[in-house]
Amino acid sequence: MSEPVKKAFIARIGTVFLNISAGRSLPALITAVGIAGALLALGYPRTARTQPAAVTVANGEDLRPLYANAEDAAEGKRLANASCAGCHGANGISITPDVPHLAGQRPVYLYDELRVYQSGGRSNSPMNNAVKFLNNDALIKLAAYYASLDPAQPESANAGNVAEIDPVQAGKTAAAACAGCHGDAGISKTPGMPSLAGLDPKYLTAAMKAYKDGQRKNMVMAALVASINEADMDNIALYYALQTPARAQTPSTGNQMTGKAAAAPCAGCHGDQGVSANPATPSLAGQDAEYVAAALQAYKDGSRDDATMKGLAAALADGAIKDLAAFYAAQQPHSPSVQKPLSTAEWAGRCDRCHGVNGNSIDPRSPALAAQRADYLTNVLHAYRTGARRSPAMAAMSAVLSEQDVEKLAAHYARQQPRAFVYMIVPTK
Ligand code: HEC
Ligand code: HEC
Ligand code: HEC
Ligand code: HEC
Repeated sequence: MSEPVKKAFIARIGTVFLNISAGRSLPALITAVGIAGALLALGYPRTARTQPAAVTVANGEDLRPLYANAEDAAEGKRLANASCAGCHGANGISITPDVPHLAGQRPVYLYDELRVYQSGGRSNSPMNNAVKFLNNDALIKLAAYYASLDPAQPESANAGNVAEIDPVQAGKTAAAACAGCHGDAGISKTPGMPSLAGLDPKYLTAAMKAYKDGQRKNMVMAALVASINEADMDNIALYYALQTPARAQTPSTGNQMTGKAAAAPCAGCHGDQGVSANPATPSLAGQDAEYVAAALQAYKDGSRDDATMKGLAAALADGAIKDLAAFYAAQQPHSPSVQKPLSTAEWAGRCDRCHGVNGNSIDPRSPALAAQRADYLTNVLHAYRTGARRSPAMAAMSAVLSEQDVEKLAAHYARQQPRAFVYMIVPTK
């Protein structure tokens, strides 16, 4: 940005992000320049192309660490050496498991969190004692001091870098042996063999487990799933659920029209057209007719154990069973509502919207994640998930992460190159 453009920009939105050519050796100063009206965030090292243009920060009581001067930071250092360094390390770089680095963390975030600890808002923490007797002034100085320090070195590029397994690809591989009976991509070509595409992954996993533990009796399937572990069952189920479903390429002998009338009592659970809305209830649309008929017979004679279906099938005559099977086989199957899980890179892209490029927050209120200890990041994400640490934004984000996602994201951020920031208050005009 040219100088006049930059000025205009400041005037328009009140805040601007500046690159400094001085490079990485720039000392992290926190300088108050006149009356605050706008906030200038100076980042280093220079990352010309990746910079978002601006950070908008409103004035507020919690911005006070940004007004701190060198003297305040020096006082913060004395306090920190006396009360914090034992756990957080000299210069805010922690060598203690589960204790976060504080060096280079964003100043307003640090101050906000210290106040949260004081009010008991982050539970079960040794921090509550550490800050109990500190006054507000001390918290501001501590925040200013830690924010001014050079951040920790990131973990080496390979740390925690477990090769990312694509669950869908893994499922496809594990399902190679299933195609002979269940058809390529789970669409049956063999009468008596169920299609698997179009079934909800929860139902598929439950069915595989039921064969494995003997709750559902079928010697062929029991033998086939005996050596498949739970993770692979999930992968297989996901793979089939993501295939485009189609009607089984098998004949049916019953009468569809009669079947349609007989299906009225089934619609409440299996859907009007055999597409179920409940993951635990299998869809029947497009299913192989011979399999549907055999399943109903099995419920009827008790060889397949299910209290609900037993009662319903008991009342069905053999002819009605064939007709029902023909009706369902003729319906159009739908894909269950599942999405391919996000990779770590895709997740991180979402996290970076608030936490900055590669976890380098440019908002003084949002924590940087880059080069933070992986063990601490993992703990924190769990704390958000259980509600032990409260944040509406993070509760929503962490609730949808799997255990694997949490560990991979923690390792990902621990490996990122940290970029310290200097926030300067500048006059509006
Ligand atoms: C007995 C060890 C101990 C002492 C002493 C200690 N801390 Fe901590 N601190 C921790 C632990 C453990 C955590 C992480 C707790 C959690 O997950 O809430 C933490 C977390 C923090 C956080 C939150 C960091 C973040 O990224 O959210 C801040 C800020 C902090 N400490 C500042 C301080 C300051 C300032 C002092 C000195 C006044 C201090 N701590 C003293 C152990 C300590
Ligand atoms: C030799 C043929 C054969 C092979 C190979 C085979 N299956 Fe099956 N599968 C069947 C038969 C037959 C049934 C119906 C059994 C019953 O009546 O419970 C079935 C049923 C199922 C069901 C239940 C479907 C439903 O609608 O309830 C699932 C899930 C399943 N198989 C998964 C698999 C997976 C995964 C593989 C590969 C690891 C596999 N099958 C390999 C024959 C086979
Ligand atoms: C109260 C809800 C409910 C109603 C009503 C109901 N079902 Fe079911 N149905 C289920 C559930 C749940 C299962 C899965 C049971 C299991 O795991 O064996 C199931 C399983 C089935 C299966 C096995 C599908 C497969 O992929 O293995 C068939 C076939 C079936 N139902 C047909 C029918 C027909 C035909 C009717 C109407 C006469 C009917 N159902 C009514 C809940 C219901
Ligand atoms: C909508 C904005 C937003 C998004 C998206 C977001 N976060 Fe956050 N995150 C926040 C805010 C705000 C905080 C501080 C909350 C607090 O006070 O506890 C935070 C805090 C955190 C912390 C605690 C940092 C510390 O030092 O204690 C971690 C770890 C974290 N986020 C990780 C993530 C991850 C991983 C993702 C992506 C899966 C993510 N966040 C997505 C806004 C967001």
